[in-house]
Amino acid sequence: MIRKSFGAISAFVFLSGCQMNNQTEESSPENASTTSESGNFGRGAISDGKDTNASEAPTRKLSDSAKSIVIYFSRSGHTEELAKEISETIDSDILELQVKEPYPSNYEETENRATYERDNELYPELSTGIPDLTQYQTVILGHPIWAMTLANPMVTFIQGYEKELEGKIVTSFSTNAGYGSGDTFQRLSELLPKSNIEEVYTVEDRNADEDKDNLNRWLSDF
Ligand SMILES: Cc1cc2nc3c(=O)[nH]c(=O)nc-3n(C[C@H](O)[C@H](O)[C@H](O)COP(=O)(O)O)c2cc1C
Repeated sequence: MIRKSFGAISAFVFLSGCQMNNQTEESSPENASTTSESGNFGRGAISDGKDTNASEAPTRKLSDSAKSIVIYFSRSGHTEELAKEISETIDSDILELQVKEPYPSNYEETENRATYERDNELYPELSTGIPDLTQYQTVILGHPIWAMTLANPMVTFIQGYEKELEGKIVTSFSTNAGYGSGDTFQRLSELLPKSNIEEVYTVEDRNADEDKDNLNRWLSDF
């Protein structure tokens, strides 16, 4: 097993969420129960070399009629796969968020940068043109879990579009490396106090293909 640090998450590790939750629940995923001697927890994703923000054209399918939109960020492709599947299943619009300065494919470098950004509240600038969101009743945010919370670029988006998301149904799906959704639901509720935050869905990245029943159950609400 590859062991990587998730930065300053030790306080959060045992607060990982279940598959679908609107509360933080105590659980200990099989590989979350031990720490290495260096104090690092668990494994991290190895970039698959297809970092979506690096070279691929961003996903962007917008219509005049859709009532729902999937807005997602993905560094190494797991969340992106899920985003496309969700959007196809519910026939929604879809928009990929990109950062002006892509994260490196190297995991440690990404983690260092992400930790610095989070500690200093210097969330990365987006390069994505955000469409008018007025037509959407439901906004489904997709993101990896970083340090047991929303990945930094999603925080940038939410902070910039809090007003536009007011009054809308907002939820999120995420992929993680085995520790659940962390404080995702609470964080969304804090960042978007005037939106209607619905139950969130998360899945361990390597299990996404086997979790269709849970995914479809969650999706049936939207
Ligand atoms: C900077 C960084 C921090 C991470 N922190 C966590 C974490 O706290 N808990 C966890 O389960 N996975 C963590 N991961 C793993 C990712 O959430 C997981 O691999 C996810 O599927 C990556 O999604 P993506 O391929 O869409 O970028 C972290 C990954 C990175 C790069």
